Amino acid sequence: MQDKILDFLKRRQDYISGDYISHRLGISRQALWKHIEALREVGYDIVAVPHLGYLLISSPDRLFPSEIEWHLDTKFIGKKIHYFDVLSSTMNMATELGMKGSPEGTIVLAETQTKGRGRLGRSWSSPKYKGIYLSLILRPQILPNAASLLTLLCAVSLCEAIKEITELDVQIKWPNDLLIHHKKLGGILTELNAEMDAVRFVVIGIGLNVNNDKKTLLAAVTSLREQKKEDINRINLLQEILRRIEKNYLLFQKKENQTIIEKWRQHNVTLGKRVKILCEKAHLEGEAVDIDRDGGLLIRRDSGLIEKVMTGDVLHCR
Ligand code: BTN
Repeated sequence: MQDKILDFLKRRQDYISGDYISHRLGISRQALWKHIEALREVGYDIVAVPHLGYLLISSPDRLFPSEIEWHLDTKFIGKKIHYFDVLSSTMNMATELGMKGSPEGTIVLAETQTKGRGRLGRSWSSPKYKGIYLSLILRPQILPNAASLLTLLCAVSLCEAIKEITELDVQIKWPNDLLIHHKKLGGILTELNAEMDAVRFVVIGIGLNVNNDKKTLLAAVTSLREQKKEDINRINLLQEILRRIEKNYLLFQKKENQTIIEKWRQHNVTLGKRVKILCEKAHLEGEAVDIDRDGGLLIRRDSGLIEKVMTGDVLHCR
C-alpha cells in the first residue's frame, strides 16, 4: 500500500489531496495518515497542509525496491529485488535464492555487509548507506569456462553507467578491478553454481564505493564522492547499472562476445603493460598482450612464449 501511496505522491510533484488518494486506493483517511506516518519514519519527507493535501519533499537515501523499480525500464534485470538493511554477504543470500529457483535477473541488495567478500579470499568493506553492494543471479546457457566473460561484461557495464551518471572515466584492471586514477573504486566477484559441463546459475557480486568520505578510505582506495567532490544519487546510479548490464547481457546472449571484448579493451589499463601475475601456483611475469574470447589474459613471457591466465592478481610493473 505504501508503494502505491508513494506512486501518487511522486507522479503529482505538487500537493495532492488526501481524499483523492484514499478514495482511489479504497482506504480511509485515517489509514492513509498512518501509512504517511510510516513513510516518514523510514525517511520520506512528506508535508501535510490542510485543504491542500500531501506533498513529497524528498526521499531517503536508501536503496528501497520501490525506489529502484520507479521508472526502471529493464525487462528482466532487477525486476525482482531482495533488499536488506544488513546481511552477512549478498553472495550467500543470492546463492540461496538461486538454489530455490529465483529467476534470472533477481538482485540482492544490502545497505551493509558484515562479511562482505572479495576475490581471492579477501574481505570487502561495506560501510552502511555509503556504497552499492549487490549480487545478481544469471542463468546463462554456457559451459563453466565461458563465465569469465560475464565478469568482463559487468565491468564494462559499470564503467558505462558511472560515465553516464557522473561523467567520470573509470578504468578496468584485468580482470575486474574498477579504478580511477589508479585507486580502487569497485570490484566484481563471480561465483558459479555448476556441474562439470553445465552452469546452473551464476551469482555476480558488485561492490562499489559511492559516497564514502575520503577520510574513511585506505590510500589505495577511492569513491565516486571523493572523485566528484559531491554526493552521488545511489538510486539513479544503480538503475543505470542494471540497464547497462541488461543491454550488454543481451549482446552476450546473441553471442556478440567480440563487441563486449572490444568495449572491455577500450576501458582497460592492463593491456600493453608489463605485469606480474600472482596466482595460486606461481608468479608469472611478462607483457599483457591481449584477452582471448573467454576473457583470459594472454601474457608474452620474455622467452616469447604466450601464456593464458584465467585468474590471479595483476601488478602493473610499468
Ligand atoms: C573484489 O574486487 O575483490 C570483488 C569485490 C566484490 C564485493 C561485492 S559487494 C556485494 C557482493 N557481496 C559480497 O560479499 N561481495 C560482493
